[in-house]
Amino acid sequence: MTKLIVAIDGPSGAGKGTVARAVAQALGAVHVDTGAMYRAVAWMALQEQHSLDDEAAIAAMAAQVHIEVEGGRVSIDGHDVTRAIRTPEIDGAAARVARLPRVREVLVARQRVYGERDSIVMEGRDIGTVVFPHAQVKIYLDASADERARRRAADDAHSGGQAGQAAVARSIAARDRADVTRAASPLMIAADAVYIDTTDMAVSEVVDRVIELVSGKTGDPLIGTRGLHRATRSHGG
Ligand code: DC
Repeated sequence: MTKLIVAIDGPSGAGKGTVARAVAQALGAVHVDTGAMYRAVAWMALQEQHSLDDEAAIAAMAAQVHIEVEGGRVSIDGHDVTRAIRTPEIDGAAARVARLPRVREVLVARQRVYGERDSIVMEGRDIGTVVFPHAQVKIYLDASADERARRRAADDAHSGGQAGQAAVARSIAARDRADVTRAASPLMIAADAVYIDTTDMAVSEVVDRVIELVSGKTGDPLIGTRGLHRATRSHGG
């Protein structure tokens, strides 16, 4: 069966997680959050007291640990870090380990394995450009800086954090800068990606738009209502 790969890239707070999860569910595909992989490695690097610039040590550690990110829970070597990786400290630490080319190499190789096994909706920064340059569907989700800060601050309030919107806006701006200016696989819009500005869109509108694009690519207008498995089978895939 041909595997479907939907790549969703974009800056933080653009809505990638919510959209990717909903699209995966509608398609019956596996949702993979690659940001969680960088976060889990950062968490482990801090646990093991590595300097966050020690590329060789962190890459070697990343190559040895078992990371699971499917289905909404995140674990690394058996530690459930689902909540522990959503802190301001890990925001900063993940951005630092994501700069290290050898760490990226290890994680990108694992991300490609997901795409060999299952049909996936994978979110990150370099999915359409580096991890799966031949993904059938590539989406770049964006939103204004103000709206992204507002969403992140709301998330934070939800999880009990104290960060005000101004602090969140500063942190997002710093991470945007780090993502876009780093030498290794910086955040950029793939030439063949569909750019969606979600600033004034409801989540359901964005999800519908992505499913419409998947339908267009697969030639199956009902793919979002009955899921991928039946759809691909009916194509003899
Ligand atoms: O999406 P996120 O905020 O959970 O990502 C955490 C960090 O990892 C962020 O600094 C961007 C980086 N990242 C990356 O460089 N490449 C990816 N494919 C996913 C995330």
